[in-house]
Amino acid sequence: MAGTVRTAVVGASGYIGVETLRLLHRHPGVTLIAITSERYAEKAVGEAFPALAGLFPGLVFRKLDPAALAEVELVFLALPHKESMEVVPDLRKAGKRVVDLSADYRLHDWRAYEEWYGVPHTSKELLAEAVYGLPELHRDAIMTAGLVAVPGCYPTGAILALAPLLAHRLIDEQGIIVDAKTGISGAGRKPDLPYPFPEANEGVTPYGVPRHRHLPEMEQELSALAGIPLAVSFVPHLTPMTRGILTTAYAPLHGPAEQAALLDLYREYYRGAPFVRVSAALPSTRNVLASNYCDVSVRVDPRTRRVIALSAIDNLVKGGAGQGVQDMNLMCGSEETLGLEGAPVFP
Ligand SMILES: NC(=O)c1ccc[n+]([C@@H]2O[C@H](COP(=O)([O-])OP(=O)(O)OC[C@H]3O[C@@H](n4cnc5c(N)ncnc54)[C@H](OP(=O)(O)O)[C@@H]3O)[C@@H](O)[C@H]2O)c1
Repeated sequence: MAGTVRTAVVGASGYIGVETLRLLHRHPGVTLIAITSERYAEKAVGEAFPALAGLFPGLVFRKLDPAALAEVELVFLALPHKESMEVVPDLRKAGKRVVDLSADYRLHDWRAYEEWYGVPHTSKELLAEAVYGLPELHRDAIMTAGLVAVPGCYPTGAILALAPLLAHRLIDEQGIIVDAKTGISGAGRKPDLPYPFPEANEGVTPYGVPRHRHLPEMEQELSALAGIPLAVSFVPHLTPMTRGILTTAYAPLHGPAEQAALLDLYREYYRGAPFVRVSAALPSTRNVLASNYCDVSVRVDPRTRRVIALSAIDNLVKGGAGQGVQDMNLMCGSEETLGLEGAPVFP
């Protein structure tokens, strides 16, 4: 990377925004020149977030004003869906490259967006240029993109668990079931807590059954891999942990499959994907915490002739901010791993 990229984080006071700050702090290719928050406008970073005290000298939250981002080259948007598409058109007109962490540009078909998100899509003209920011599938397109839509957290885990099976036509495409467990930070840092501690702790709760908003995104990408339209059954669960998503996906096999051969096929598929760690060992959210890794494994169940594919990610890193930084690295012609080399936190 020649010089550093002048960057802003919009929506920097949410969980994804703060995680983006944490990752950019140690990124050698970035100069962070602007951060926005309505709630903390005019406060210094350390004042609003004592965890980051002293790490961003002189940086102060400002209210969002696209006109105030004139000096910025690349903008991370960590806003709720619907808010992103209010600002992306102006940013693109001003020539800014955009890494959008919301759902606004992930679906190629605006009709699907309107059906699943229940609001009009007001920026349809930019959907054709938006690239789905999963580097393991779309690395080349991301490198030249002006607008990258960072995948949702659940789709990241599900797609990376299933991609090799679909790409090699090994499973019945219409028989896929995805079960996932998330930490509570997946719901964001709303002023009114959506899940108060006494109601979220010591329990596991399914939600969004059978129509969670991440389904059309999973189906868009898995269908492209399969080469035919497919539908997925998906059940997410809220679990009493702060970060992490464990995904367990089940699918009927077309024919007999050897466990060792499947693992080799996964290793080959993800050769050159620095953040996917394929292993015979079953993944755990514990082993990827605060890192950009996605741990993947696959097991054959000969009794039921099904395959079980599993993945673990940190929803705020590979499921969000880390993947956004990985996309930025590719967009800027930098090493894909730059600033993301940190080991997971253990225990
Ligand atoms: N949480 C996850 O695991 C995860 C993973 C992947 C993707 N995402 C996506 O990333 C985005 C951010 O998620 P999050 O979990 O960080 O949400 P969050 O904690 O609720 O943060 C939302 C951010 O947006 C700002 N904001 C909200 N409404 C705004 C408005 N009208 N104008 C300007 N700023 C506004 C908030 O700022 P103030 O309140 O300070 O004004 C805050 O900084 C969402 O689209 C989400 O779907 C989340």
